[in-house]
Amino acid sequence: MFCTLLCIAAVVFVIYVAWKFTTLDADWQSFHANIDPTYFDNKVIWVTGASSGIGKAFVRKIASFSDCTFVLTARHEDTLKEVCKEIESVNSKCKAVIFPMDLGTTGLSYYESKVDEQFPNGVDMIVHNAGYSMRSCAVDFPLKNDMDMFQVDLLSPVILTKLLLPYMTTKNLQKKHKHIVVISSVAGIALTPIRTTYGCCKAGIAAFHESLRYEVLPYNVSILNVFPGYVATNIDVNSVGKGGKNSRQQEDFIQKGLSVNRCAEIICASISNHLFECWPAKHPLLYSLYLITYLPFLKSILMPSRAKKLLKTYGY
Ligand SMILES: NC(=O)c1ccc[n+]([C@@H]2O[C@H](COP(=O)([O-])OP(=O)(O)OC[C@H]3O[C@@H](n4cnc5c(N)ncnc54)[C@H](OP(=O)(O)O)[C@@H]3O)[C@@H](O)[C@H]2O)c1
Repeated sequence: MFCTLLCIAAVVFVIYVAWKFTTLDADWQSFHANIDPTYFDNKVIWVTGASSGIGKAFVRKIASFSDCTFVLTARHEDTLKEVCKEIESVNSKCKAVIFPMDLGTTGLSYYESKVDEQFPNGVDMIVHNAGYSMRSCAVDFPLKNDMDMFQVDLLSPVILTKLLLPYMTTKNLQKKHKHIVVISSVAGIALTPIRTTYGCCKAGIAAFHESLRYEVLPYNVSILNVFPGYVATNIDVNSVGKGGKNSRQQEDFIQKGLSVNRCAEIICASISNHLFECWPAKHPLLYSLYLITYLPFLKSILMPSRAKKLLKTYGY
């Protein structure tokens, strides 16, 4: 009798968890995390790629409930100025300054002089969000485009983290809580064709910061790796395709993806709860992520058909 009851309870539990899973738009932990609205108060938050998409939604979201100072980076100065105005209209107590910068620039001295000048005392939080994707097989993707993508999506964020590290660790004598937030991608976990260099950069940037996390934890520095699935932004039109040409095409799966505001909300909740990582993504992508992460042998069953579909979509 007891065994029967135990079996029924186990079946009910499994059904409940399976049903609950269908309602998720992020991994279990970050989905259930709540934003602490006071957490971001009085912080200096530097966001790269703040002129559009996830970066812009993130600063708007924080401004809606918190009084803090934003430093906004991207290449287009005018767009950044508009974001500043939007922030002030959302919350007049927030300060926003622009810090235009091209993360495709090579050379350490460029970053050293910029960061020294702008942040003599470092920042409380850096959000490495600037980046772009690709839509081409490796054979059709010019090497100079690989180099640029490595610079923007991987090397520059690593350089910026390293330049800020002393202010977050040894120079942070009161051990004030600091954050490094990395916007990686599902493409850095579930590696697919058409995204070779992009997947490599996104896996690399997450790996660097994952490893760094354990060096900086004693100094009260939290590192969050974010792996978004499809989020409705301009990532599709800004992607670089065959021959290094901009794709300029909207894609259904991106535009029907997670809303950018919801993605920003999940990221804010994950930061204020000091989570190690979060996966903002809708099903079925979220299901596949869970499956290939926790049951890796399924990769060889799931990925070949998904890869074939992707190759066909892009004319291969
Ligand atoms: N949307 C998705 O489905 C998705 C999924 C996974 C990961 N992500 C990641 O999320 C991040 C944000 O992308 P998004 O979706 O919000 O796309 P987005 O709307 O195209 O935004 C990209 C941002 O990066 C900036 N940027 C691009 N190249 C730059 C450079 N060389 N120097 C400085 N800033 C640069 C852009 O500003 P300027 O053009 O003014 O420079 C823009 O603010 C990216 O790292 C992307 O890889 C997005």
